[in-house]
Amino acid sequence: MLSLTSALLALQGLGLVAAAPYVHNTVPELSTRDAPRYNASLPNITIFATGGTIAGSAADITQTTGYQAGALGVDILIKAVPELWNVSNVRGVQVANLDSGMITPSILVNLSSQIQAELDSPYCQGVVVTHGTDTLEESAFFLDLTVRSDKPVVVTGAMRPATALSADGPINLLSAVTVAAAPAARGRGALVVLNDRIASAWYVTKTNANAPDTFKSYEMGYLGVLIDIKPIFYFPPAWPVGKRQFNITAATVLPQVDVLYGYQALNPGLASAAVASGAKGLVMAGMGAGGWTEAGRAVLKQLAASNGTHIVDSRRTMDGYVEPDSSNTYYYAGGFLNPQKTRILLQLGIYANYNATGFKSLFEFDS
Ligand SMILES: *[C@@H]1O[C@H](CO)[C@@H](O)[C@H](O)[C@H]1NC(C)=O
Ligand SMILES: *[C@@H]1O[C@H](CO)[C@@H](O)[C@H](O)[C@H]1NC(C)=O
Ligand SMILES: *[C@@H]1O[C@H](CO)[C@@H](O)[C@H](O)[C@H]1NC(C)=O
Ligand SMILES: *[C@@H]1O[C@H](CO)[C@@H](O)[C@H](O)[C@H]1NC(C)=O
Ligand SMILES: *[C@@H]1O[C@H](CO)[C@@H](O)[C@H](O)[C@H]1NC(C)=O
Ligand SMILES: *[C@@H]1O[C@H](CO)[C@@H](O)[C@H](O)[C@H]1NC(C)=O
Ligand SMILES: *[C@@H]1O[C@H](CO)[C@@H](O)[C@H](O)[C@H]1NC(C)=O
Repeated sequence: MLSLTSALLALQGLGLVAAAPYVHNTVPELSTRDAPRYNASLPNITIFATGGTIAGSAADITQTTGYQAGALGVDILIKAVPELWNVSNVRGVQVANLDSGMITPSILVNLSSQIQAELDSPYCQGVVVTHGTDTLEESAFFLDLTVRSDKPVVVTGAMRPATALSADGPINLLSAVTVAAAPAARGRGALVVLNDRIASAWYVTKTNANAPDTFKSYEMGYLGVLIDIKPIFYFPPAWPVGKRQFNITAATVLPQVDVLYGYQALNPGLASAAVASGAKGLVMAGMGAGGWTEAGRAVLKQLAASNGTHIVDSRRTMDGYVEPDSSNTYYYAGGFLNPQKTRILLQLGIYANYNATGFKSLFEFDS
């Protein structure tokens, strides 16, 4: 197989590796699938590329930090893995080429709409999204909440840049496309596939800043595994309890929601500062099961009452459940969702004009 490194070096030599910081393409016609390798017996899978380490480039093959994320275009990612053509007819769409910390709500809305249009076509059987891993769980969760289709949406990335020895991007891309092409992957919502594991986008989280085995679903578990790059699911299709879907067809931006971190002697004024800077909602990454200080609570109560700020309690621990408190009327409990996912759900709830009853049922539910 043509290695990504040699493909990259060849293209760099030709001056073809251009960093495209923010390229939006409209969905091209499906007939633009690579004609010479088109195989009518295989499903059509579209790869939406957003950048990240999977498209990252470093000066040295031993370098796995301090590289430039989002340097390579989707065509180079596809060219580096000719095995993709064994399982599908692939087509690449460059949505952005960014470090994932730079992904904005408007990029997410655009990505979700493009994916929806693609999956609504009878000529596309599934999509893959390549994404930086730092905020991958947020984008995957957003797609789970907004894309309406039984067809698979599989999000993948890499922990090592494309130029590294033992880069994980090529196998993760092949795994993701294979899962997207599998009928058994349908009806499960958005999936996250890296490191031979298949996880639901709802609960998976990045647990390690550097290691390739970073995406975990500790309490809820994985949905399946890849053996010899063949997906094997442990359970039939199901949705997470409490899952909602939002119609963002008319959206361009989403309301500002900020996350505040809980700690001993936390600064209560940060909550007002966030609201003064435009936050419509606050997610509290609280101590233990959503703990906050008394002085901090007084400020939050005031913001909820006077400024209509929507407040959801989450937790700063890796896992756990933040329980509803029936004695309070000014904030909601985030249940099992971590703060960064709670933020996405709160943005969508505020966008959809949920009332108090709606928010309560959105965040606080029994199975
Ligand atoms: C097309 O795909 C089918 C199903 O995987 C395979 O049997 C066949 O050999 C492929 N054809 C070519 C020309 O690669
Ligand atoms: C998969 O693709 C590679 C490269 O195109 C090819 O050499 C190989 O024979 C294929 N494997 C199978 C099982 O079709
Ligand atoms: C995505 O954004 C691009 C550029 O801003 C625009 O041309 C395209 O129509 C958008 N697509 C969707 C589905 O919103
Ligand atoms: C794949 O796309 C081509 C157009 O490029 C279309 O003719 C074909 O029917 C599609 N295959 C499937 C299985 O939808
Ligand atoms: C989503 O909302 C748009 C209007 O913004 C509407 O035309 C469309 O029918 C809605 N889609 C669904 C699935 O409800
Ligand atoms: C909250 O609302 C009050 C009363 O309307 C206003 O005086 C105050 O400036 C607002 N606070 C912030 C942080 O926006
Ligand atoms: C809250 O919104 C729901 C759904 O839109 C509606 O059925 C309900 O009547 C509303 N409740 C209140 C108290 O406004």
